[in-house]
Amino acid sequence: MTDPAPLSPSTHTPPRRYRASGKVILLGEHAVVYGHPALAAAITPGCEVWHAAPAAPGLSLTIAAWERTFRPDDASDLGRALAALAETLGVTDAALEGVLHLPGGGGLGSSAALGVACARALLGGDDDLERTLAGALAWEKVFHGNPSGVDHTLAALGGVRRFVKGEGASRVGLRRGMTLVIADSGERASTRDMVASVAAQVAHRPAETRRTLEAIAALVRNACLALPEGDFKTLGDMMNLNQMLLSSLLLSTERLETLCAAARGAGALGAKLTGAGGGGCMVALCPDEAATVARVTAALTALGAPTRQVEVTP
Ligand code: PMV
Repeated sequence: MTDPAPLSPSTHTPPRRYRASGKVILLGEHAVVYGHPALAAAITPGCEVWHAAPAAPGLSLTIAAWERTFRPDDASDLGRALAALAETLGVTDAALEGVLHLPGGGGLGSSAALGVACARALLGGDDDLERTLAGALAWEKVFHGNPSGVDHTLAALGGVRRFVKGEGASRVGLRRGMTLVIADSGERASTRDMVASVAAQVAHRPAETRRTLEAIAALVRNACLALPEGDFKTLGDMMNLNQMLLSSLLLSTERLETLCAAARGAGALGAKLTGAGGGGCMVALCPDEAATVARVTAALTALGAPTRQVEVTP
């Protein structure tokens, strides 16, 4: 019997993974479209993209979990978004593969995270923030028409940030970490339609609707003062008030109201829908004690909602 051949070290190195975050809007969605500030926190992991061995020349993006490959000429939103991104970055050939760690269309910024991760993969790194943001904005426009930019900016920068359309994002200092419990209503609505429904209200009832949007902006300003003090009670109050104002803009649903009420009943300091509304996810702010987080999670789970816990660190 001969000795087995010595094991040679593997020459295969796994492809580099390019990552981007999801986000949860704590306050200010929709008002942000009209130039008011929003407060948002990045969620990781959001999504990962890497270069695969190309099966054919040209551009492609494969999402194995969906058993689909998207190409610029296939007329799908993702195919068109890939085309817009690649054109902005001046890239013509790349076979990308991606994995999403967030539910799609639920208000957690999954499309922006994918756009930013694809931009980073096409650029070969995350050094060129300006081109990453420009490419991801072109990508986001395919899905949302005229996005404020909060999603892809948070996807690229991470952290907890105050965002203003056209101005960008500034970091909001946190005195201590906070725990969020996010629950998926299971309902879905298009961001484009929800943004259009607010635009219709601005057109038909300009004074009232603008007052509501300004009231939302005031909540964001208060929360940005409260967070560096570690004052989560105020942030929670602002979230509850924001939910009422979003409801008055017809952006909530019965299911979202039920989930918010259950979270508050179980001890959350504040709860609201997050993102475009009409369904999607809700976010509950939990005080520090693990017991409250567990109670809020149990209350939401009892209503059949998938939940996830997010730790937001200073
Ligand atoms: O639902 P999402 O994750 O796409 O969030 C949309 C946020 C809006 O303020 C409603 C739109 C925007 O462009 O900012």
